[in-house]
Amino acid sequence: MRILGIESSCDETAAAIVEDGCRLLSNVVHSQIDIHAEYGGVIPEIAARSHIEVVNPVIERALTEADCTWDDIDAIAVTYAPGLVGSLLVGTLAARTLAILHDKPIYKIHHVEGHIYANFITSQEHSTLKLPQQPPRFPMLALAVSGKHSELVYFRGHGDFDLLGETQDDAIGEAFDKVAKILGLPYPGGPEISRAAVAGDPKKYELPISHLANPYDFSFSGLKTAVLRAVQHEVGVDYRFPSYKLAERLSERQKADFAASFQYIAVKTLVNATKRAFRELSPASVVIAGGVAANGELREQLRQALPLDVEYAPIQLCTDNAAMIATLGYYYAQVKSSDNPYDIEVVPSLTLAGASWA
Ligand code: KG4
Ligand code: ZN
Repeated sequence: MRILGIESSCDETAAAIVEDGCRLLSNVVHSQIDIHAEYGGVIPEIAARSHIEVVNPVIERALTEADCTWDDIDAIAVTYAPGLVGSLLVGTLAARTLAILHDKPIYKIHHVEGHIYANFITSQEHSTLKLPQQPPRFPMLALAVSGKHSELVYFRGHGDFDLLGETQDDAIGEAFDKVAKILGLPYPGGPEISRAAVAGDPKKYELPISHLANPYDFSFSGLKTAVLRAVQHEVGVDYRFPSYKLAERLSERQKADFAASFQYIAVKTLVNATKRAFRELSPASVVIAGGVAANGELREQLRQALPLDVEYAPIQLCTDNAAMIATLGYYYAQVKSSDNPYDIEVVPSLTLAGASWA
């Protein structure tokens, strides 16, 4: 069964074809990072307009690269939640129109659940990604960490999961992006922080680790403010000094030390919760998903903390893509009836708890 996945929830327009929920036939991602980098973050109106310009060519390319025509496609899967409303509308409208035009079943997919399913891609046709050999086993503990999400989820099986905890304020990727801005590093900040941190001392600045009533919930907003206060202290100014001018006063050494100290504590927060859940629930596998899953420090700290190998998709499938959407679409198609293409609506702020296999 071949599924065409379509993803446009934020600043990537993506289409991909996945066979039988595991075999990658094509994976096309058009990133808008260059456009948004100029503004230091995603501008929703510009994102939506850019999706409109490229969505059709991106879908066409996904078909061509997979050597498929519409006759080879069994169903369409599309991200409908969560994300930027204008961005989600472009992808879902394209998917709905194509489903009607080509008479294909359509499945609406929750973006975060999709991220987790990137780990189920184990073979490929026209690419040379470093993929896991086998799909994760159930029960599975999943840490979903991206620019907008930080969630710890326990899966008993497909569609049967408990949301153990989630961020109460900023997402982890958002914290990376905001701290990068304080340090004068470009958007997106995650990869920049991890690059800068290589030369830094993770113990140089003592930063706080949050403790919440639910040990599986996260909070990163206080950590971001703690970095801001520590930078102000280091350069000898107070809160009245414009934060966008702070970076000019930091040396490369100080930037590296702040990047390393922040990354160490941010990652430790995630790892502590994952370790605790692992001890309590004894899952058969642990997966990490989302853009922040590309972070080397997270991979290393998890390797040290857990007695089993943590599974993760290659970086190209950790950041936003449509292959993960097509993969989850396959599992939906096994158990669910398809959605009505005439009444799929976008839900910009739906949490993972709202994703339904019913
Ligand atoms: O999953 P994703 O592509 O988009 C969302 O659904 O949000 O994640 C993007 C986020 C950004 O915040 C980016 O800074 C972060 O993932 N990110 C990283 C790394 N690569 C991307 N964060 C830390 N370390 C990385 N290597
Ligand atoms: Zn994402």
